[in-house]
Amino acid sequence: MARLDVTETFHGISFPGHLHTQESLEYAVKFPFRDTDILIVSYPKSGTTWMQEIVTLIHTRGDPGLSQTVENWKRAPWLEHYYSSALLEASSATVRVITTHLPHHLLRPTLQNSKAKIIYVSRNPKDVVVSFYHFHKMANFLPKPHSFPEFLTRFLESTVPFGSWFDHIKGWTSQINSNLLHVTYEEMSLDLHGTIKRISSFLQCPLVEDEVNNCVKHSSFSNMKDSKMINYTLVPNEIMDHSKGCFMRKGKVGDWKNTFTEEENKQFESVFTSKMQNCPLEFVWE
Ligand code: A3P
Repeated sequence: MARLDVTETFHGISFPGHLHTQESLEYAVKFPFRDTDILIVSYPKSGTTWMQEIVTLIHTRGDPGLSQTVENWKRAPWLEHYYSSALLEASSATVRVITTHLPHHLLRPTLQNSKAKIIYVSRNPKDVVVSFYHFHKMANFLPKPHSFPEFLTRFLESTVPFGSWFDHIKGWTSQINSNLLHVTYEEMSLDLHGTIKRISSFLQCPLVEDEVNNCVKHSSFSNMKDSKMINYTLVPNEIMDHSKGCFMRKGKVGDWKNTFTEEENKQFESVFTSKMQNCPLEFVWE
């Protein structure tokens, strides 16, 4: 099998070469956003797929037809992936839903005068690193981690693909922009109903109670886990080895406790405290 885990380095950040090219990354940072666009932004493993589902369902007023028939990467393509320019340019949708994992500093210039609506999704980074580790084991386009402790160290040193979690969250959440809504994975877990209402009101797409209930139902972990349009089982085994894990893995808050040792927790806390010292965000860890 050809090596898939080649990387493209762009502005000092490595991206899986399987999906990103220099041209696609250049295209992304110069993308002419429309004021009607909705941009879902996240660091990997923070609840991106969940938000793609929620936004799709809000637009269809809780009707699952679209999300059950069109793959999520076509409904809400990743701006920086090589196939997206063709998809976005061919799109006749009045509202385009676009996804990105890029850090704020790379998109700042092109977003500067845009009124596109941005939804930033974050998750507590202990759960992010555990989820990311398992994803690295199944995704053949990512370098195979030797062990969890080695992966954790690379995450804390910000040498994993997609760059620094710390810079990502600080960059996006420090923006004062009424067109940006910050939603956490933990609030979606704790109160999906209330969070969907908040998102629909931000998107100026108010829903009646039944429609909200349908959005909740169809974006539940159990429903999404079984959907081929979402769970990546349509991706061939040589790209994602489905014998090594599931994309829709556990979907829990606080799963890090089943992986972190006491020592790893101390290592994490020490780096976290120093890198996040001026950041006012509060996290739900369990
Ligand atoms: P776990 O690996 O902890 O299970 P992303 O889409 O950003 O790559 O994030 C993937 C993570 O979100 C996975 O976490 C996945 O299970 C979780 N996830 C996706 N949809 C979810 C849902 N409806 N409810 C809870 N977790 C969900």
